[in-house]
Amino acid sequence: MPERLTEYRRIAVFGGVYNNALALRATLEDARRRDVDAVFCLGDLGGFGPHPDRVYPLLRHAGVQVLQGNYDQSLASGRTDCGCGYTDPRDNHFARISYEYTFSGTSPDHRAWLGTLPRHRRVRIGEHRVLMCHGSPRVINEFLWESSTPSGLLRAFLDEAAADVLLCTHTGIKWHRALGGGAHAVNVGVIGRPENDGTTRLVRDPDGGAGPRGGVRPRPLRRRDAGARDGGRGTALGVRGNHPHGMVDDLPREPARQRTRAREVLEVPPVSLRDLGNRVAVQLFKRLPWLGQAWARRRHFVESDSVPWTPLGKPVRQSVIALVTTAGVHRRADPPFDMTDPDGDPSFRVVPVDAPRGEVTITHKYYDHSAADRDLNVVLPVDQLHELAAAGHVGGVAPRVYSFMGHVDGAHVRTLMERTAPEVARRLRADGAEAVVLTPA
Ligand SMILES: [Fe+2]
Repeated sequence: MPERLTEYRRIAVFGGVYNNALALRATLEDARRRDVDAVFCLGDLGGFGPHPDRVYPLLRHAGVQVLQGNYDQSLASGRTDCGCGYTDPRDNHFARISYEYTFSGTSPDHRAWLGTLPRHRRVRIGEHRVLMCHGSPRVINEFLWESSTPSGLLRAFLDEAAADVLLCTHTGIKWHRALGGGAHAVNVGVIGRPENDGTTRLVRDPDGGAGPRGGVRPRPLRRRDAGARDGGRGTALGVRGNHPHGMVDDLPREPARQRTRAREVLEVPPVSLRDLGNRVAVQLFKRLPWLGQAWARRRHFVESDSVPWTPLGKPVRQSVIALVTTAGVHRRADPPFDMTDPDGDPSFRVVPVDAPRGEVTITHKYYDHSAADRDLNVVLPVDQLHELAAAGHVGGVAPRVYSFMGHVDGAHVRTLMERTAPEVARRLRADGAEAVVLTPA
């Protein structure tokens, strides 16, 4: 059955309201002047601005169709931080202050409403099938930067969703890329604050008529090549357990949380308490090792009935060696591991073994990685492996490193054992790896 998409002649799309009711009002007035059929907001209503609850009446009055952003998801589910995906501790510090302020200033009704918002929307504009999301179609807080997002990945998103145009936001910086064959990717930017483009200028509009920065002017889209795709028979926007970086956006926990009424979640805050408990325990174990050892003795770990080792088929000096780590290593361009979930994150990241060090970082709050931040070889001995290969002690170095974040608990253990770990094993075989060095952290 061909998918029936709501058709529009002309739409306005923006992201990142960030509690900025003044910018939202100006944006909506601007959209009205441009004679659009519908207005869409790609999420992140809260954060930074002084009056969280002022944006909701404006959105409702204007009939804006809103998607759920990471900020909205956090507010709705009672999380302790915005889930923005920042990796810089300073960013996280200020984001936490802003988030706590926004949480306290957003009414329970509005938080519950945020929990009902969809993660994706599909519409048709002329011949174009448009897919809207917040971060990326697969991860709500994935940063799709213009400088680091491969066109192949964008085309894969579109192919998977049977769409021609991808609209996203979250990075806060707008961009547009024509992908050929009538396909386009557009980061629509944000309206609530200036772009984080490395400058410190303040933008002020003394006339009040030009609207805020950050919007994308409607631009004509070329008609796509006939027959290039399936003529509009959209496949369902599927879950992705097999995408390039092993993020698991279709974990059992995700739909379960979305189905849970937000108000129920807010009345029971076990997530916050468990997260706090994890952090306290880590600090205590770091300072009092005997306490950690006592905890480990009483801990019921996962036990395996079989020995998970495979005999080495040939000498190490002839074998291609791969590195797998649980140190939370990932490329800066990839989404960080989820540190907001008290049960951890069972997904993995792929890092080219020769990735420049400046492009690699660590997201893991349950061990002290200050030494590894200075020299990645502390947790991921890539240089030493290359030296061993050069000296003939190992046969070769596999092209990719697979990285987990070692905190995996609760339901995520099953996801790790049944999905992400077997997937990494399959990829290691495809990479030609014949033995693996595990580097726990
Ligand atoms: Fe966001």
